[in-house]
Amino acid sequence: MTRRQDNIDVPTTAEPTAFGKKVFVRTYGCQMNVYDSDRMTEVLAREGYEATDTPEDADLVLLNTCHIREKAAEKVYSELGRLRKIKDERARDGKSTMIGVAGCVAQAEGAEISRRAPVVDLVVGPQSYHQLPGLLNRAKSGEKVVETEFDIDAKFEDLSRAAVKPVRQRPPSAFLTVQEGCDKFCTFCVVPYTRGAEVSRPVSQIVEEARRMAAEGVREVTLLGQNVNAYHGEGPDGKTWGLGRLLRELAEISGLDRLRYTTSHPRDMDEDLIEAHRDLKSLMPYLHLPVQSGSDKILKAMNRKHTRDEYFKLIDRIRDAAPGLALSGDFIVGFPGETDADFEDTMDLIRRVEYGSAFSFKYSQRPGTPGATMANQVPEDIKSARLLELQALLTEQQRAFNASRLGMVCDVLLEKKGRQPGQLTGKSPWLQAVQVDAPEDLIGTIQAVEIIEIGSNSLFGARIGRQDEHLSTAPDLKEVAFDA
Ligand code: 5AD
Ligand code: SF4
Repeated sequence: MTRRQDNIDVPTTAEPTAFGKKVFVRTYGCQMNVYDSDRMTEVLAREGYEATDTPEDADLVLLNTCHIREKAAEKVYSELGRLRKIKDERARDGKSTMIGVAGCVAQAEGAEISRRAPVVDLVVGPQSYHQLPGLLNRAKSGEKVVETEFDIDAKFEDLSRAAVKPVRQRPPSAFLTVQEGCDKFCTFCVVPYTRGAEVSRPVSQIVEEARRMAAEGVREVTLLGQNVNAYHGEGPDGKTWGLGRLLRELAEISGLDRLRYTTSHPRDMDEDLIEAHRDLKSLMPYLHLPVQSGSDKILKAMNRKHTRDEYFKLIDRIRDAAPGLALSGDFIVGFPGETDADFEDTMDLIRRVEYGSAFSFKYSQRPGTPGATMANQVPEDIKSARLLELQALLTEQQRAFNASRLGMVCDVLLEKKGRQPGQLTGKSPWLQAVQVDAPEDLIGTIQAVEIIEIGSNSLFGARIGRQDEHLSTAPDLKEVAFDA
């Protein structure tokens, strides 16, 4: 049985003003940007814009940018160079093209963007997407528009309203922003400056959006926030709810069989959230919990607000509550002052924790952050050498984790067509990609699969026949899988 529904066509009330126009949105960076790009597309759909995958066809191009590391920000300017050519070519054919820069580069650099790249008509920060139609009208009349105010509550309220009309078929796995911004001020990070202070959406707004997603065929929701486990939204009882309580509420929604959340800070992993991992069958056994460094000295300089020992104790508590949960993390090498011994502490932490997967980066000096002006910046060649060593260890751990799934039976949510004809790609409970031979009408269903082969980028699974309805009747496969 498939619970996926075909296009639900909810009528909109606003008069479209851009009927027949096309918008191309390119997304850089984190999942929050993926979510925001969808919301922008929805707001523009109300105006009559249709989404296109080719910038050459687009009357409006939006780059939803990332400022987290220097490389990410620079990519935007090279893309703007390419877009200038497209805009010129279209102009020769008598077509006009508006170019907008959204996201964290927009927030951080504001008017500087259109000075450096005059092709840009509109700069819009992440808290102002609900104002896009008005801003576009101003840009159309020739004004170089820059909007980088922080008014996040208005954004959430407006975008929730905008999300009534799905722009395209909802994939079975979707993101849902529950919290934005960050108050942690890690000394390497731009997020508290580009995304502002922590703001949590009220529980009722989130539940309503999740219900709507479930009705549109979404089976898995990943709750998003720059510091998602610091979530502290207003509950229906007027009290402040944490993420654990919110997850328990979402777990009640029929059709939402899988819940995930990202990204978390170790300091905000409270007991209720840890217990949610123990209690909720739909909360997937996967946790992205960045630690960044294994050296107490560097953790302090990074303002991470915990020691390596506290992190080890936390991991023990989480693993006691949810044995077999796959841990993922982020690591930065070459933070100012990092010595060989500090780096060795990070390697040692990784060996002790054993990660299922991880992301790792060379430290990048971000203007305006305390780290950028710290003494003892680490030379580039040392950063590169450390990154290679660290990634070799993480890759080895990931391979070992993947290999340990061989022969296991687990649930796979089938999400889209696979690489080979007759194959679908899905996700294991531990967020690994799994290729499964299955007909297309099983997209959007959860299938019991035996892992029969381990590839370098994904696992291969064979359906074992049991169909989608198992969720209420079958034994807990998580347990079976881990005992195997
Ligand atoms: N340099 C390198 N990596 C960074 N990150 C954030 N800021 C920087 C920076 N200045 C990494 C952190 C974070 C992830 C999203 O990006 O590891 O968890
Ligand atoms: Fe940046 Fe995460 Fe630190 Fe917040 S907790 S400042 S988002 S690294």
